[in-house]
Amino acid sequence: MSEFETKSDRKHLVVSKIKNGTVIDHISPGMSPLVLKILGIGPGSKEAVSMAMNVHSSKMGKKDILKVEGKFISDEELNKIALIAPEATINLVEDFEITRKFRVEPPEVVENIIKCPNQHCISNSNEPIKSRFRIFTDGRKVVAKCDYCGKKLYNLQDYI
Ligand code: CTP
Ligand code: ZN
Repeated sequence: MSEFETKSDRKHLVVSKIKNGTVIDHISPGMSPLVLKILGIGPGSKEAVSMAMNVHSSKMGKKDILKVEGKFISDEELNKIALIAPEATINLVEDFEITRKFRVEPPEVVENIIKCPNQHCISNSNEPIKSRFRIFTDGRKVVAKCDYCGKKLYNLQDYI
C-alpha cells in the first residue's frame, strides 16, 4: 500500500505517519481532547502531537486519532483511555513500523481522574483525599462507582 492510500482515505493520510511514538486510533469521535487530558498532555507539554477529530472510519463511521511523537506511553496510562473511548487501539511505532498493537482495557480502579458529583462525598471535602472509582462494564458501557459514597456514573466524559 502506498503512503497515500489508507482504508479511511484513498488519496491522503489524514495526519502524517510518525517515526517513533504512540498512535491512538479508533477513539470515539470528539473524545481526543479528553484523551489528552487523561494522558496529562496539555499546556507545557513538549511532545509533538497531531490530532484528527471526527474523521471518516469504515469501522466506526467517525473516529478521532492522536499521534504522540517520540513518546512511549505506559500500558497503565493508556488503559485509562478506555474510560471514555473503549474501542481505542494503540499502535507503538518504532522507525516507522508498528511494533505492537493492542486494544485498551478499562482499569479496575482509577484514582484522581474522575470527579465525584456528590457534593457530600468525602472526596469533595477539604480532606486531602484522592478520588477513587471502581470500574466495571455493563454490556458495552463502562461504568464507574465511587469508592467512598457508592455513586454510579455512566457518561464518564462528563466527570473528567
Ligand atoms: N501509523 C502512523 N505512523 C506509522 C505507522 C502507522 O501514524 N509509522 C498510524 C496509521 O496512520 C494508522 C495507525 O497507525 O492510523 C494504524 O496503522 P495500520 O495498522 O497500518 O492501519 P490499519 O490497518 O488501518 O489499522 P487497524 O487494523 O488497527 O484498523
Ligand atoms: Zn463519591
